[in-house]
Amino acid sequence: MAIHINEQDQLFHLQTDHTSYVFQVMENGELGQLYYGKRMHVRSAYSNLATREQHDATPAWKLDKPDFQPELLKQEYASFGKGDFRYPAFQVEQENGSRVTEFVYEGYQLTDGKKRLDDLPSTFDDNNDDSQTLTVQLRDRLLDLKLELNYTIFPHQDVIVRSATFINSGSEETVLNRALSAELDLPDPDYDLIQFSGTWARERHLIRTPLRSGVQSISSLRAASSAQQNPFFMIARPQTTDEHGGVFGFNLVYSGNFLDQVEVDQFNTSRILVGINPSEFAWKLAPGDTFQTPEAIISYTDEGMNQLSQQMSACYMKHLVSPRFATQERPILINNWEATYFDFDEDKIFKIAKKAKTLGIEMFVLDDGWFGHRDDDTTSLGDWFIDKKKLPSGLGNLVEKIHKLGLKFGLWFEPEMISMDSELYQNHPDWLIKAPGRQVTPGRNQFVLDMTRADVIDYLVDVMSQIIKESQLDYIKWDMNRNITEMFGNQLAPDQQLEFAHRYILGVYQLYARLTKAYPDVLFESCASGGGRFDLGMMYYAPQAWTSDDTDAVERMKIQFGTSYGYPQSMMGAHVSAVPNDQTGRITPLQTRADVAYFGDLGYELDVTKMSAEEQAQVQQQTAFYKQHRRLFQFGKFYRIESPFENDGNVISWEVVSEDKSHAIGCRYQILNQPNPSYLRLYFKGLDPDRKYTINGGSEVFYGDELMNAGLFINRLLGRTMGVDSSADFSSRLFLIDAVE
Ligand code: GLA
Repeated sequence: MAIHINEQDQLFHLQTDHTSYVFQVMENGELGQLYYGKRMHVRSAYSNLATREQHDATPAWKLDKPDFQPELLKQEYASFGKGDFRYPAFQVEQENGSRVTEFVYEGYQLTDGKKRLDDLPSTFDDNNDDSQTLTVQLRDRLLDLKLELNYTIFPHQDVIVRSATFINSGSEETVLNRALSAELDLPDPDYDLIQFSGTWARERHLIRTPLRSGVQSISSLRAASSAQQNPFFMIARPQTTDEHGGVFGFNLVYSGNFLDQVEVDQFNTSRILVGINPSEFAWKLAPGDTFQTPEAIISYTDEGMNQLSQQMSACYMKHLVSPRFATQERPILINNWEATYFDFDEDKIFKIAKKAKTLGIEMFVLDDGWFGHRDDDTTSLGDWFIDKKKLPSGLGNLVEKIHKLGLKFGLWFEPEMISMDSELYQNHPDWLIKAPGRQVTPGRNQFVLDMTRADVIDYLVDVMSQIIKESQLDYIKWDMNRNITEMFGNQLAPDQQLEFAHRYILGVYQLYARLTKAYPDVLFESCASGGGRFDLGMMYYAPQAWTSDDTDAVERMKIQFGTSYGYPQSMMGAHVSAVPNDQTGRITPLQTRADVAYFGDLGYELDVTKMSAEEQAQVQQQTAFYKQHRRLFQFGKFYRIESPFENDGNVISWEVVSEDKSHAIGCRYQILNQPNPSYLRLYFKGLDPDRKYTINGGSEVFYGDELMNAGLFINRLLGRTMGVDSSADFSSRLFLIDAVE
């Protein structure tokens, strides 16, 4: 294993297969950062990496140490108030109001493996054989306050996991005003910030901007990671592409308010901070209390962004997603939301399920509208008991009938929500989040339950457990359709109100933890109006997520392409829906819709009973095709080829490749047809240059190097178009690449 420690010089070198991360205890006892990037040899000292050169007009640590100037140092976990004027990683307020701290090195602990965190989702290495964990212990010079900086290396995925633990072992009450998970001080600013931003139905579009002097940040204050900004981001050299160049990736195992910030300072260093958003946050750290930050994931490669995505995704599949599901093929589902919305009864549902079964679909998911008297979105959230008007013979009966068809059964919940028109609200008006004396802001006609309360969590565990057991659920879609306003906890003391947003998400995690522990075989899919909580915190409990409410194939190309930078395709729920599309009104071919949805967890979200016989036959072909290649689609290595965020975005292509490189499937999508186009080539990726491959079962045999370096000439004959005119608007072409020997 590869954490090297020079005890004499108090130097730590974390080495993964291809990267090195080096830091050292500085003269003042705090930690200084020396290097993060491509792997280097281990040396006993690295004076060359320490940036110490006296500057004028800059405070120094001590009168007799004029060249030890905090704002010139690369720090590991910086505080504010002692001469470093950049944004700090943390701040502890003491009883006397002072915010100055001096956490100095005390020692370290090195262990094999990685333990799960207690109350937060986290990475893990249950067999203790694939990782190493270093905890560096620091103590404040004045207060009996400890700070532990935790580092885990997953060497084979080139991933480092960081977090911080604050322990108040003294007798003074303190408040954490800020407690980020990781800081990285890079020695220059010649990078682009690549972020994934958008809104509902237009999530995770790539935006690339050069770093500049000052602060650039991505954040959320919605008490959810949000559709607007995703916690995943990259810092890449300007020339870096999907294939080449240096790039750092950052993510956070957290689903609440976050901050990702880059500050380019006066001396052109770039400070990166990742963690809980310090706005709307404070945490009382009374004597005996401990505060654990969420985990930040960081990773580096000099081989471009495809490699970065692959190594980070590989790490999640091994060390974040429940092992029960990580490598298990996900069922093809049919969801009735876009098929019926609230307007259904048992007969309608059963007919859809029955037809779906004949088309090769494997699971029926009953979406919103099955409970209380929910005929629209104004009522019944919280009343998780069956609507006898719609389903007179009960849910158990319907599920039994659907199970008998040979389909699995899944059910929609929105556990964190409450409608004012509900029995739950009649019985527990104080469970709804509101600030004393203020009006409460509705969102989608609904309100939010106070998930910081133990009685709320207990209620939800009970009521959901009853349904899971009685109805033998195989799957749950866990929705969350509005963000929180008037944040206030009526069980929290006045000086703890800023803990609300974090406590809320801890409550959500607790509910997830209790349910997933009690029902380990139930597959959870997280959802927040589609992609409003698409993050690694959710992924720990729910191996897949509804990527976006936008099911339009063309929009989905962008959303899935953007999402693929930070997340594996097995996390992306992707459905074929009806046309004209409900979100955009666009009419795209059925095959294009499937060709997009194949590159995720395939589902259908339309009334299959209303499809023509030809369309039904096409769906049957699609499900058969997907099943044949499902492992490759869901778990193959994902390569982005042509980006919707570059050039005019008209052509998009991507590819999945099997681990042994014997099979690959690529797809090229064209949004608008072009008259008299120039010659087109598709440059495949990730193949074995020395192996021979056929394409779509054709007789011609190509070496991998030719397909990757010279590309494939795109003509009509090579497109596997299943009957669609491959040169039309909104068209797609699949390429099945198989090694012949
Ligand atoms: C959200 C989800 C949809 C659907 C509806 C039901 O918008 O993202 O998929 O479940 O809620 O109300």
